[in-house]
Amino acid sequence: MNDPFSLIAEYYDEVMEKVDYEEWARYVKTLLSMAPLKPIRRILDLASGTGNLSIRLKNYGYEVFGLDYSLGMLKVAKKKLSDKPLAIPLVSADFRHIPFKPSLFDAVISTFDSLNNILDPAEMIDTFKQIRGVLRNGGPFIFDLNTSWSFKTEWYNLTRVEETANTISIWKSRYINGIVYLYFTLFVRIDKGDLYRKINTVFRERGYSPDEVKKYLKQAGFSKVHCYDHFTLSPGRTKSSRVTYLAY
Ligand SMILES: C[S@@+](CC[C@H](N)C(=O)[O-])C[C@H]1O[C@@H](n2cnc3c(N)ncnc32)[C@H](O)[C@@H]1O
Repeated sequence: MNDPFSLIAEYYDEVMEKVDYEEWARYVKTLLSMAPLKPIRRILDLASGTGNLSIRLKNYGYEVFGLDYSLGMLKVAKKKLSDKPLAIPLVSADFRHIPFKPSLFDAVISTFDSLNNILDPAEMIDTFKQIRGVLRNGGPFIFDLNTSWSFKTEWYNLTRVEETANTISIWKSRYINGIVYLYFTLFVRIDKGDLYRKINTVFRERGYSPDEVKKYLKQAGFSKVHCYDHFTLSPGRTKSSRVTYLAY
């Protein structure tokens, strides 16, 4: 369990408490409704993390499968599901090696820049091909990515400190050759007292421009690609920070 996400999995939801997953789920639902394939029933949530999107999509009535490689994140998701009458199969796997049979899903989604964790463009193309393979013909693939422009200009040397009830986090980023190294120091309150335990980890993400992503999706066999400035239906641009894609 020494992937960077497992180290902080227990505290992930608290650290991300400001992320509006309700809005994210509504946005994904809107994009799902814009795809030509009807009806959409079975969805694969790739890099499902602690299950925040999977649970909301399940509540909308979709059949949802989650996949993540982080045993820590999966453990938190399983715990959340154990309190709910929701059946969401969770699979432990690397999204660069998708273990499902062809055409099993009506849609695949991947949220919160999870696919930026792929650092090698050749691996990104291969992953897109595998995603195309597990989709029914015409089924949508919806995902977001931080752009290379954002990494170069907004993240190249950033320091951010955030506090929640039980955590203090320090984010420091460095941009080197297309890759952002995100040094993350998390202080976790011990027994709700005044002492904190420290956890250090490093995340690495590669930025991708919309033109690059469109090219890779076409290479992977997607014939139609729309890209949007995140959380909108306006076109995604080179200078968007985060772009959401709808491909089928
Ligand atoms: C920022 S979190 C997003 C989680 C979730 N999609 C959400 O919106 O909350 C990124 C997730 O990607 C997963 N991840 C990163 N690399 C992965 C890989 N190679 N295979 C599968 N999951 C991966 C991490 O374990 C983590 O759960």
